[in-house]
Amino acid sequence: MSTFTPPRPDAIFGFAECMPQARGLAAALGVACHEVAVRRFPDGESLVRVPAVSERPVLYRSLNDPNTKLIELLLAASVLRPAAAHLTLVAPYLAYMRQDKAFNPGEAVSQTVIGRALAPAFDSFLTVDPHLHRTPSLDAVFMGKPALALSAAPCIGAYLRAEGATADLLVFGPDEESEPIVAAVAAAAGCGFAVARKQRRGDRDVTITLPPQVTVVGRPVAIVDDVISSGATICTLAGLLRDAGASAIDVCATHALFHEPAANTMLAAGARRVVSCDTVIHPSNAIPLARHIAGALGPVFI
Ligand code: R5P
Repeated sequence: MSTFTPPRPDAIFGFAECMPQARGLAAALGVACHEVAVRRFPDGESLVRVPAVSERPVLYRSLNDPNTKLIELLLAASVLRPAAAHLTLVAPYLAYMRQDKAFNPGEAVSQTVIGRALAPAFDSFLTVDPHLHRTPSLDAVFMGKPALALSAAPCIGAYLRAEGATADLLVFGPDEESEPIVAAVAAAAGCGFAVARKQRRGDRDVTITLPPQVTVVGRPVAIVDDVISSGATICTLAGLLRDAGASAIDVCATHALFHEPAANTMLAAGARRVVSCDTVIHPSNAIPLARHIAGALGPVFI
């Protein structure tokens, strides 16, 4: 991962749906915050108006539900960039990263396409826990431009500690790919971790195998993953851990992309609660990342 530090921003520009997070970031950095105005025409096109410009702006938008947001982001960047010495994109959730190769003939490699579309519009990039399991670094996605991939693990670990985690807690990941975040959360929470093995056959069809050497019976477990989308991964793992005798099962994710019915299914499968970081605005948000993101951009004031 890159260790690049973007220049300290002098203003944050957010969009309507993410203004609470954009304002939180601006407050933590002690800089102004502006809302990019968007008017949608009846035919679905967007008119974007940026109310100010600055020298070192950050354009802030999480890219869940991304198709319209991406276009509006490029339109806003086209106003900010000519007046800026350095324009940074902060996209706490970066969309389209999971398709990093053509798994079947004819499939578009969305990671490459979206990275190449965004790269010319910004000078640097910051995101949180991007799904980059086969791509060596975020810089590679953005054609070598400086890019920072923050991990939410310290914040998730601190949340678990604040919620009373003890050394007995077992932080559990659903697959080998989750090991880096799971290990980092466990280190921050001061407890142990384990990862299962997962086989995915379809969007909502996964099989998970628990590691045989790990004792779960009577222990509290926190399942940790970068993304919850359909919820199938969490439901399957929570069910296995409940059947294996875990005393309580909490679920923490960086990015909550799931809808309400999936939340209920996860609870029915054995989870006591499901919480997420506020990278994607969602009813499960319990872990704000403004200070963490601000810390990567400059001195933090609150
Ligand atoms: C996959 O590798 C990711 O880390 C998540 O486990 C996955 O995206 C979750 O998807 P779903 O909620 O649809 O099972």
